[in-house]
Amino acid sequence: MIEQTLVLIKPDGVLRGIIGNIITRFENAGLKIVASKMQWIDKDFSKKHYSEHLEKAFYSGLETYITAGPVMAMVLEGNDVIEVVRKMVGSTEPKTALPGTIRGDYAHISTKHANENKKSVCNLIHASSNIQDASREIMLWFDPRDMYTYKRSGDEWME
Ligand SMILES: Nc1ncnc2c1ncn2[C@@H]1O[C@H](COP(=O)(O)OP(=O)(O)OP(=O)(O)O)[C@@H](O)[C@H]1O
Ligand SMILES: [Mg+2]
Repeated sequence: MIEQTLVLIKPDGVLRGIIGNIITRFENAGLKIVASKMQWIDKDFSKKHYSEHLEKAFYSGLETYITAGPVMAMVLEGNDVIEVVRKMVGSTEPKTALPGTIRGDYAHISTKHANENKKSVCNLIHASSNIQDASREIMLWFDPRDMYTYKRSGDEWME
């Protein structure tokens, strides 16, 4: 089924200058970028994006991390894209993320982002985890007028 998902290259990915490497992986996999923008979010926006984690002990560290610099936000479209992108991203903790995944290949040097004594796992990238989250997150980040429908060469091979 053709789906859409929200991907964020988090501040560590932007500040390390590896936006291109990450986007290339998605393009090579045949996923279509239907919207993108850079945005430096504030704490209020972080609370909306990560609303499911507000009560967690690591939330304040996560907020410091995700607001530490701009993120590159995009909506990717493709067959079963939510699950496919989560697989490409790899597991949350970089040291357990498998080689071949984005976190496994690029995130080992990112460890913890300090905030008082609470720290966040810095793992380069966010991807929506299910269809409900994807729909909520896409509405939070993008105006439908800034999302585009277009045909890429190769689309004729897709059902
Ligand atoms: N136990 C933890 N300690 C510190 N930081 C954490 C911890 N668990 C998660 N985080 C941070 O919070 C983010 C959101 O956690 P979540 O459980 O949703 O993981 P994820 O779905 O792999 O990541 P994301 O939602 O950013 O794609 C993680 O990506 C990481 O940056
Ligand atoms: Mg998550």
